[in-house]
Amino acid sequence: MFDALSLTFPDGERYFIECVRMFRDKIDNPELQKRVADFINQEAQHGIAHDKMNQVMKEQGMPVDQFIQRLNKIFKFELEKRSPQYNIAMTAAAEHLTALMAETFYSHKETLRDAHPYVRALFAWHAIEEMEHRDVAFDVMKQVGNVPESTRKLTLVWTTFLMFGFTIYRTNVMLEHDGFSRLQRLQMNIKGLPWFFGKRGILTRMNKQYGDWFKKDFHPSQHPVIAQYDVWVKTLEETGDPIQAGEAFWQAAKE
Ligand SMILES: [Fe+2]
Ligand SMILES: [Fe+2]
Repeated sequence: MFDALSLTFPDGERYFIECVRMFRDKIDNPELQKRVADFINQEAQHGIAHDKMNQVMKEQGMPVDQFIQRLNKIFKFELEKRSPQYNIAMTAAAEHLTALMAETFYSHKETLRDAHPYVRALFAWHAIEEMEHRDVAFDVMKQVGNVPESTRKLTLVWTTFLMFGFTIYRTNVMLEHDGFSRLQRLQMNIKGLPWFFGKRGILTRMNKQYGDWFKKDFHPSQHPVIAQYDVWVKTLEETGDPIQAGEAFWQAAKE
């Protein structure tokens, strides 16, 4: 599932950058201009790092190019055929979702326990930066986007559907490539669903924060930054090593 997510990230992030760029010349506020520049920088770096991870999957025989081509067709369609309002709202909504994912994946150790430490560190670094820029696209949308409330609300539902649809579909295709039968995959899905949506599921945990989006006066800064944020920053300062920072960040999560 994390592999499937990684496959969506680079092109998704390049799409976010395109969406924010459409509004860049409308921004008068120099502080927001600076935050947009930092946002673009961070997302571009995420794309580069996840492309490297995706290359490993390609070498392992996964149909990476096929996934990416299909995704790019969708993004091209969105950018060319839909309004800039829709696109910036999609970006702001997706950023809300990624910030919540960052929180839920790293609030408990259990979620990434079996991941390779490098993958854990990659996602940890990504999570940290998603926390840092979670309100940039939102502020662009609010300040210069001129986005109707109904569009803003709808895009979160739509982007959630797309994100989970792609992730589950790709996970399934990759499991098939790994040799799991249709029945085995079905059993995995049945077993995995409570992990997502069960009473203590990792997505159920973020229910309230997810729903806050639909409040009229919502702003991403109303949510606290993940508890162990400082652990990552401090460890990186001390060691200069993002792998160690990622490991310390993960270790500092709840059991
Ligand atoms: Fe990102
Ligand atoms: Fe982001």
